[in-house]
Amino acid sequence: MDSKKAILSVKDLSKTFSNESVQQHVLKNLNLSIYKGDFTVIMGNSGSGKSTLLYALSGMDRPSLGTITYYTGEEQTETEISGFNNDRLAIFRKEHVGFVFQQNYLNDSMSALDNIMVCGLLKWKDRKSLVDRAGELLKSVEIDERDWNKFPTQLSGGQQQRVAVVRGVINSPEVLFADEPTGALNSQNTENVLDILSNLNDEGQSIVMVTHTIKAAERGNRIIYLADGVISDEIDLGPYVGDYKDESNPNQTEAKERHSRLKTFLQDMGW
Ligand SMILES: Nc1ncnc2c1ncn2[C@@H]1O[C@H](COP(=O)(O)OP(=O)(O)O)[C@@H](O)[C@H]1O
Ligand SMILES: [Mg+2]
Repeated sequence: MDSKKAILSVKDLSKTFSNESVQQHVLKNLNLSIYKGDFTVIMGNSGSGKSTLLYALSGMDRPSLGTITYYTGEEQTETEISGFNNDRLAIFRKEHVGFVFQQNYLNDSMSALDNIMVCGLLKWKDRKSLVDRAGELLKSVEIDERDWNKFPTQLSGGQQQRVAVVRGVINSPEVLFADEPTGALNSQNTENVLDILSNLNDEGQSIVMVTHTIKAAERGNRIIYLADGVISDEIDLGPYVGDYKDESNPNQTEAKERHSRLKTFLQDMGW
């Protein structure tokens, strides 16, 4: 098998927040690479720095120390984003990364379709191809055409989050970042959104997702455990092979084995 290509590499990354006289070292000297095609999952206790790490990796925020280097496109063009100002970071994000958060952050004064179009228009030159692509993606996440022009508040929570996922990938980002994307959903919608992320990953979309549930983490092929701002360890699980509880899953034996490896790993991490 080909060795994996890095999309981004982090060197000696630290993040410190200063409140009045107190300094809080949230990320401490992290070194990490994220690889193309991977579904990378970041786990760890609440307050361990997962969101802070995700924001730094994605260029939503700058590190206090250290470098973040992206390798984008066919040419693997090297770009070090850690020194970028806000404007350059915003341009870089628009070109190369997508996001999904726990809250969908859709704009309530625009239709579902327009929420996606607004993000896409910044990158797509041709409106017709953008509409076609948005429609194709909305269909793939089972948002019926009659709902495309509804406002977010007229859609269910699950539908809203599916629209947010489409918005996250409309510009075919190098990597899709997701911070607890199912944290506000019921179990049916959780399953649904996780299936969508798995499908996107099957089609080659690189994903980095923060989660605190095993159910979501199982979708990843690489699980990184963060404790107190440092990476404790990681595990290579191999690709998702379906629900381990599903009797009709032809890969159930492998799925069970995978599940128990993840569980053991997390127990070893003191989770
Ligand atoms: N903007 C900020 N200003 C000050 N402290 C922050 C800020 N963002 C996060 N923190 C602190 O950093 C720590 C880690 O937060 P976070 O990355 O959100 O953890 P997690 O996502 O793992 O729960 C917490 O103690 C939090 O209070
Ligand atoms: Mg968080």
